[in-house]
Amino acid sequence: MSEPSAPRASSPDAPGAASLVALRGVSYAYEEGPTVLSGLDFDVVAGRALALLGRNGSGKTTLMRLLSGGLRPAAGGLTLQGVPVSYDRKGLTRLRTTVQLVVQDPDDQLFAASVEQDVSFGPLNLGLPDAEVRARVAEALAALDITALADRPTHLLSYGQRKRTAIAGAVAMRPRVLILDEPTAGLDPDGQERLLDTLGRLRDAGTTVVMATHDVDLALRWADDAALLTPSGVRTGPVAEQLAHRELLAGAGLQLPWGIAVRELLHRQGLLPATEEAPRTPEELAHLFTPSPARRAP
Ligand SMILES: Nc1ncnc2c1ncn2[C@@H]1O[C@H](COP(=O)(O)OP(=O)(O)O)[C@@H](O)[C@H]1O
Ligand SMILES: [Mg+2]
Repeated sequence: MSEPSAPRASSPDAPGAASLVALRGVSYAYEEGPTVLSGLDFDVVAGRALALLGRNGSGKTTLMRLLSGGLRPAAGGLTLQGVPVSYDRKGLTRLRTTVQLVVQDPDDQLFAASVEQDVSFGPLNLGLPDAEVRARVAEALAALDITALADRPTHLLSYGQRKRTAIAGAVAMRPRVLILDEPTAGLDPDGQERLLDTLGRLRDAGTTVVMATHDVDLALRWADDAALLTPSGVRTGPVAEQLAHRELLAGAGLQLPWGIAVRELLHRQGLLPATEEAPRTPEELAHLFTPSPARRAP
């Protein structure tokens, strides 16, 4: 992906070279609340799907709101492609055309009378020409597979349809980074699969997607990297490594994903070499035992 041309932010060894958005030395406490994050460095790297994991109250939502400019850090700063974000109108507009947050509860995001009106709100607010707004809305509705709902009053939508509409509103801004706070919560299995397909297509089209979730199996399946919120800070790395790390998982209040547990079990039984990647789906597990020229049967 593109290299930022601006000078790097302060931390000398931060993996910030390809960061689209980064927090540097950020602390945040709510009024009359606990300090949620302190001295945090955090990078959203272009093209890497990132899962943000941690127990309830660990600060996932706070971190996402800091990344999208909804909260302003008490200390430290936010950078966009290496350039510090200013929290004035101009700075926030620049941020919002790059980073979009979809909050957990669609009812906190939707407010217009119809789906189309809601999805067009962001682009209209940017002052784009009508034709451009229409094109973006059509594209976002199609991406979320809700074109047929365009004229539907938002208050008559199902929960899953409201979620899709909220995501379409963010997609219509054509962000480079799409941040979703627990997007699969409350969806049925089919709704979850459809959403993952949609996010897959957005990723293929070049959007960097960040997702908060409690679901380690989903994270292993979906993400490139995982950021675990633990009491000693946020730990980020390749998802399969992070989610095989028992101490880290325990610190984040999470369990081992089943695919990694299965790999460990099969390895202990001598049925799988240690180098084999953990299966992420039942199909991948079955594949491990399918003889083929490329794969020795166990
Ligand atoms: N508006 C708020 N006012 C005061 N405290 C808050 C507010 N929102 C969240 N908190 C507190 O901040 C901490 C982190 O919350 P949050 O970021 O929502 O965590 P998560 O999304 O991981 O569940 C929790 O202790 C929570 O109680
Ligand atoms: Mg939350």
